[in-house]
Amino acid sequence: MFSKEVYIKRRNRLRELVGDGLILILGNNEAPMDYPDNTYLFHQDCNFVYFFGLDHAGFAGVLDVDANEDTLYGNDVDIDDIIWMGPQPSVQELASNVGVSKSSQFSQLEKVVKEALAKGRKVHFLPPYRHDNIILLETLTGINPSMIQSYASIELVKAVIELRSVKDEHEIKELDMVCNTGYKMHVAAMQACKPGVLEQEIVGILEGISVSGGGLPSFPIILSQNGETLHNHYHGNILEKGKLMLTDAGATAASYYCSDATRTVPVGGKFTSKQKDIYNAVLAANNKGRELTKPGITYKEVHLAACKELTSHLQAAGLMKGNLEDSVAAGAHALFMPHGLGHMMGLNTHDMEDLGQNYVGFDDEVRPSSQFGLASLRMGRRLQEGFVITNEPGCYFIPALIDKWRAENINTDFINFDKLEEYKTFGGIRLEDDILVTKDSCRILGDRRIPITVEEVEDIMK
Ligand code: GLY
Repeated sequence: MFSKEVYIKRRNRLRELVGDGLILILGNNEAPMDYPDNTYLFHQDCNFVYFFGLDHAGFAGVLDVDANEDTLYGNDVDIDDIIWMGPQPSVQELASNVGVSKSSQFSQLEKVVKEALAKGRKVHFLPPYRHDNIILLETLTGINPSMIQSYASIELVKAVIELRSVKDEHEIKELDMVCNTGYKMHVAAMQACKPGVLEQEIVGILEGISVSGGGLPSFPIILSQNGETLHNHYHGNILEKGKLMLTDAGATAASYYCSDATRTVPVGGKFTSKQKDIYNAVLAANNKGRELTKPGITYKEVHLAACKELTSHLQAAGLMKGNLEDSVAAGAHALFMPHGLGHMMGLNTHDMEDLGQNYVGFDDEVRPSSQFGLASLRMGRRLQEGFVITNEPGCYFIPALIDKWRAENINTDFINFDKLEEYKTFGGIRLEDDILVTKDSCRILGDRRIPITVEEVEDIMK
């Protein structure tokens, strides 16, 4: 948790941006795994963390914009709770820790919201994503759960995105730290990547490092020698020499800030020359993306430049052909890279995705595209100092997609389908760094870049 002044400042700005009414920020509750008392590790709502800082289940915060007053709602523990959980701070103490002067029992929240609605006041809430909070919102507002998303406040969504998109020095410190945990995870994965090892064994090592650093992995670890499946969570393969192992993994800090990096390494420690060609194509696209990243450019432009770099290398490898500009404009590279260059990162891995990707990654100037590949770009808008984004180009040989494009004669002017037949068992490569947009350019978060050149990777795997 940061100092209370940080949260006071954030809430003051939020009230200014939203302008009127009540702002309701719901915290998360415990989530049962298989019976009520056996819960998943508690994960707080990240908007609640941002404005109220507290890592406790069962709280909500209200910002009364018109009265210029904030209240924390929650229940004090009783003796039964103390027996099982130990002594706990009171709701009022928790509120004071984050600069909130008023606190109240949770049951009062219903009365306050209903009174505001009865007086015709606007009650702003964010799009809920947990079922218990959807039901709570129905109780508070009377809105049917099936309609609740459409009643979320666009003004509040936009205000929260405006604030959370630009990371301050406290947040950057946490992000650097959690990226250092990510560094350890990836180096451990590289060093464990040997023929005969079960993928799941390596996943367990990485989870342990993340937990030792403060929290669970920031999303279910993607680790597979079948890296052509973009989000492959199956970890039951025994690693085979000659394959590539793709690891997409990050940590969560105790403060909830995340890291998210990807590396792809040769099982056994030595790339073949065919692997090196594709690997270096992805590395060139990654480096191009980073070189261009700075305030003022749109991330869609950076995405397209990285795709162009990838295309030129794939042309040199004989897999693509034709005019470079036309090929990128047609989206031919999306056969190899059907996803976007990156996404915002912060308290969430896909930062603020609960608020709506079109608001987080796009605006009136840069609109989402419907072209295959480009449609999966999560972040397209103009970059500002303080944005944190991932830079994650990839190149995948997805047999079903290759067969589909070939059968349907898609982009035949730009793809050498005959040559591609030789690559159908190649797998996939993704290389991802977490990047902070600085005043004039950008930098990779963490003290050191995770090994990435062919030489660095082979050296660390020795
Ligand atoms: N790195 C996993 C994801 O971005 O979804």
